[in-house]
Amino acid sequence: MLSLVILGALVSLVHAKFYSTYPNIETCVGLPVQYSCENTTVVKDSCCNVVQGGLVLQAQYWDTYTGFESHGQLLPKGSWSIHGLLPVNCDGTFGQYCDLSRQYDPKPSPSTLPNGTVITPYKGPSVRKFIQEFGRSDLLHYMDTFWINQGAPNEEFWAHEFSKHGTCASTFDVACYEPRYKEHQEVVNFFETVVKVFQMYPTYDMLAAAGIVPSNTTTYTRAQIANALYSQTGADPWLGCYDTDGTVLEEIWYFHHVLGTEQYGHFKTLDSITPATCAETGIWYYERTPTSEKAISH
Ligand SMILES: *[C@@H]1O[C@H](CO)[C@@H](O)[C@H](O)[C@H]1NC(C)=O
Ligand SMILES: *[C@@H]1O[C@H](CO)[C@@H](O)[C@H](O)[C@H]1NC(C)=O
Ligand SMILES: *[C@@H]1O[C@H](CO)[C@@H](O)[C@H](O)[C@H]1NC(C)=O
Repeated sequence: MLSLVILGALVSLVHAKFYSTYPNIETCVGLPVQYSCENTTVVKDSCCNVVQGGLVLQAQYWDTYTGFESHGQLLPKGSWSIHGLLPVNCDGTFGQYCDLSRQYDPKPSPSTLPNGTVITPYKGPSVRKFIQEFGRSDLLHYMDTFWINQGAPNEEFWAHEFSKHGTCASTFDVACYEPRYKEHQEVVNFFETVVKVFQMYPTYDMLAAAGIVPSNTTTYTRAQIANALYSQTGADPWLGCYDTDGTVLEEIWYFHHVLGTEQYGHFKTLDSITPATCAETGIWYYERTPTSEKAISH
């Protein structure tokens, strides 16, 4: 009996450590709904709708190594990895580091904004700690599996993505969480949202299902890759190849307009507004270095 009581106390203790991360959007209920960038007369409330950065990109990487293997930082086998969720304004311009009071990036890039503002490197507790403070070890585990940095710890990349891009998406403004805002709530909520949208696009499986698998002996055409993704998403994502002749596939961006909030609203997949940097033929989708990958459970 005593042990049951103790167990009960322990369970409630663990429970008490979970904090909710959702914004306060009660006032949005009953307002007209509309996709971002599609009707600026209707869409005005920046907590209810994505007003700033309404063209939203879900970006994924295909890297063959991490440069941080010695720290156990490996890529997820059978999956692309997360780059982030990038808000672009409806006119194609984009902001960065939009709220310097929420600057958690230890290595700001760029370190000076086009308007001359210098971004001070962050030296406080890591965003990893923010996630832990909200009791979200599940989210942390997922991010450590799929959101992988190159040559530096994952949490630096996550912090960079939030501070450079997350602060430019209106539905993550601190005001949207009032009056019960708990510090860093929107950071954790942003990370959850990035994961949610990433999960909409299992790029590795979509390509593999169309016969396009990583190979160090066979190349693909751009049309093969584009057609495979179009057949499952109904849109043409941006295909990024970074070598000079555009023959090494490394990144994909899926474009959207969003109805409601980024957190819970509907993402409508759209064609890329920017041309692919991949050549038309001879594209390498390289196999990863075997020691740079780890098996994962989806
Ligand atoms: C924008 O919304 C307003 C109000 O709901 C509506 O009257 C108008 O037709 C819409 N415009 C477009 C282009 O959808
Ligand atoms: C430059 O941009 C930053 C970030 O958006 C902003 O905080 C700052 O006020 C701007 N500075 C000037 C001089 O416009
Ligand atoms: C495939 O080629 C890439 C690029 O040269 C290399 O990094 C990777 O280790 C190779 N993978 C295998 C399994 O040989």
